[in-house]
Amino acid sequence: MLLPVTYRVGAGGRMEVGGCDLAAVAREFGTPLYVYDEETVRTLAREFRAAMGEAGHVLYSAKAFASPQFLRVVAEEGLGLDVVSAGELELALRSGLPAERVYFLGNNKSREDLAAAWAAGVTLVVDGFQEFEMLREVVPAGRRLRAEVRLSPGVRPDTHEYIATGQLDSKFGFSIESGAARQAVEQALAHDRLELVGLHSHIGSQIFDLRAHAAAMAIMLDLVAELRRDLGFSPGRLGAGGGLGIAYTQDDDPPTPREFVTTLRAALYGGCAERGLPVPELVVEPGRSLAGPAGMALYTVGAIKEIPGVRTYAAVDGGMGDNIRPKLYGARYEAIKVDDPEPAERDLHTVTIAGKYCESADILVSDARLPELKTGDLVALPAAGAYCLAMASNYNGMPRPAVVMVRDGRARLIRRRETLEDLFQSEVF
Ligand SMILES: Cc1ncc(COP(=O)(O)O)c(C=O)c1O
Repeated sequence: MLLPVTYRVGAGGRMEVGGCDLAAVAREFGTPLYVYDEETVRTLAREFRAAMGEAGHVLYSAKAFASPQFLRVVAEEGLGLDVVSAGELELALRSGLPAERVYFLGNNKSREDLAAAWAAGVTLVVDGFQEFEMLREVVPAGRRLRAEVRLSPGVRPDTHEYIATGQLDSKFGFSIESGAARQAVEQALAHDRLELVGLHSHIGSQIFDLRAHAAAMAIMLDLVAELRRDLGFSPGRLGAGGGLGIAYTQDDDPPTPREFVTTLRAALYGGCAERGLPVPELVVEPGRSLAGPAGMALYTVGAIKEIPGVRTYAAVDGGMGDNIRPKLYGARYEAIKVDDPEPAERDLHTVTIAGKYCESADILVSDARLPELKTGDLVALPAAGAYCLAMASNYNGMPRPAVVMVRDGRARLIRRRETLEDLFQSEVF
């Protein structure tokens, strides 16, 4: 799915999402603008949950994109949430997520993070031996915090090294291979302020080949069998993380949420049967595959620079400040002209969509094939719902874009555009 489920070409030949003409939405709210299609979020959430059935739980990984109204949609669909900071936790609670559905992760949690997790009553995913010590100070004597231990299963998925997390050489998780995972479980079981309810893992992001997930599951189940035999411990929950890839271009063909969950369920059930283990609840935590396809970035073309025989640049009013992914990991995007989304092949020109930030590397799409662009045209980047705004910055003193949610022909503002005044809130003049 490259485009949101409600995408169609509207009556005027322009892109329409959620029953809204994107050109009209851009006129009303300005650009750069991020447009989320509520129906796509709900459809994907339902697909994950339906595939999971009674086998476990689906959490949304807030780091992909979080705002109160977005999280409310996620919560309404019955998903839980994974958060990685006191800030994300606070946002989750203020958005109405029930604490019992929230998991707090992070490889270097501060005392304040741990205190926030305890105060909120969420499940903590321990990822570092230092946490055991700090937790003795944070959790009162005689009380216990629900906890899981994050494992590093030691598989290397087929993704960019910056977003692979489950291999041995990773800052995340207790390595199974090195014995650290077993040690961490022993410490968690012996800890008088923790109630160990499960084990957790996440092997990386934007993964297309699900065999890596199945391999990680087998490695974890070997550990589970060892823990049961030696320590009498069986986790009630086993977290397989997120990581399902999405289509960023027409050429990408990722597995569906159903295939992702079904693969994991099969690996879990089959693996437990082989080892004679009771089957724990499965937990998955997709981020990108829930938010990514639902979001689209809209930009207005400004400067056009033609270097004869070399390249034509069309510069838009956003760029690396709202979408660092092309610069950070060479991510590729498709660009679509909003008022001519399905052009004939003969009308296509090669143009590089550049941002407006003072970096040569601030290129959103190299060598896009689009109808001729002129100043004032609108360009859409699909699949921009995850890890774009979430990583947005105020680099070059630029305010971050507004966000709208569209549904049934109505576009509602869910985050206002930042103003210059917002930029100076924390400055000392
Ligand atoms: C622990 C953990 N869980 C879930 C996710 C979500 O991954 P994705 O967005 O690829 O589904 C991440 C992302 O890096 C993560 O670190």
